[in-house]
Amino acid sequence: AFPKQVRVVEVGPRDGLQNEVNVSLEDKVVLINSLAKAGLKHIEGGAFVSPKWVPQMADSSAVFAAIERHDDVLLSALTPNLKGAELALAADVGEFAIFTAASEAFTQKNINCSISESIERFRPVVELAKANNIKVRGYVSCALGCPYQGAVAPEQVLEVCKQLLALGCYEVSLGDTIGVGTANEVEQLLDLLLKHLDASQLAVHFHDTYGQAISNIYAALKMGISTVDSAVAGLGGCPYAKGASGNVATEDVVYLLQKLGIDTGIDLKTLAQAGATICKALNKHPQSKVANAILAD
Ligand code: HMG
Ligand code: MG
Repeated sequence: AFPKQVRVVEVGPRDGLQNEVNVSLEDKVVLINSLAKAGLKHIEGGAFVSPKWVPQMADSSAVFAAIERHDDVLLSALTPNLKGAELALAADVGEFAIFTAASEAFTQKNINCSISESIERFRPVVELAKANNIKVRGYVSCALGCPYQGAVAPEQVLEVCKQLLALGCYEVSLGDTIGVGTANEVEQLLDLLLKHLDASQLAVHFHDTYGQAISNIYAALKMGISTVDSAVAGLGGCPYAKGASGNVATEDVVYLLQKLGIDTGIDLKTLAQAGATICKALNKHPQSKVANAILAD
């Protein structure tokens, strides 16, 4: 059954901008502030990763120092290791996100270690979070396919989810990193996961490379998943997954939720305008059909 409430996790400022060069601090700050104005309650604002690996996120401390803070808006960031977690803590980040994958090959390319090494590396991150009352979310990339190894078994996704939850994550977000999955595959994956885990422990994070993200989200919602990651204007991609295009657009997700009678408190027009503004700065067209329809009105 569909959930009564859905939490939308806006990852545009992180996932959306980690592939974009030359985005100014000012543009990032304007984006995050306007997403909060549109009603987003959880915004992933940056990544405390190695600037040698992803220079686009090197100014995350400055971003967190400059954005407006609201009591009801949770600001999270990627923290791949203790160094990242310490920087995130100093930047007053409200939630940490650790990330690994269901594919060994992708994990090596993305974070330079094996899946089991990544879990060990996350232990001190979770400890630091706990000591400071900060919640930790986990990501499992390649949940529906890997750019290096191809197919990924649902059993392998389950295994990594269990490890992240055992570590102390309150939720694991299932990443279709390269957007190859289809709704029947989402159903197969969730059929297995929901035998072992509660729907409240899972989120979906679908890239839209093959145009399947919205139908995949519909399938997940129908199975009770109530947390959906998305990026305004469909920004996004992973630097270590060639050909991966943007995340599903937040505007498209909100439109679907509205039609399902699920209120998110997000104002679609304000959101679409926030997307148009950052796209203008990036010299890009918004990838959201909903936003393009609304703004053309
Ligand atoms: P490494 O090279 O093995 O690490 O990278 P290292 O410990 O040897 O450090 C190398 C250098 O980076 C050192 O500097 C460290 O100090 C520095 P040097 O001594 O050479 O001057 N360093 C750091 N600096 C700042 N903050 C840090 C940090 N850590 C080390 N936290 C590491 C390992 C994990 C650090 C690296 O591989 C990395 O940063 N990877 C991040 C890659 C990334 O951000 N990918 C995109 C996000 S994941 C994604 O998009 C998928 C997702 O959206 C879900 C989905 O769609 O599936 C989440
Ligand atoms: Mg992603």
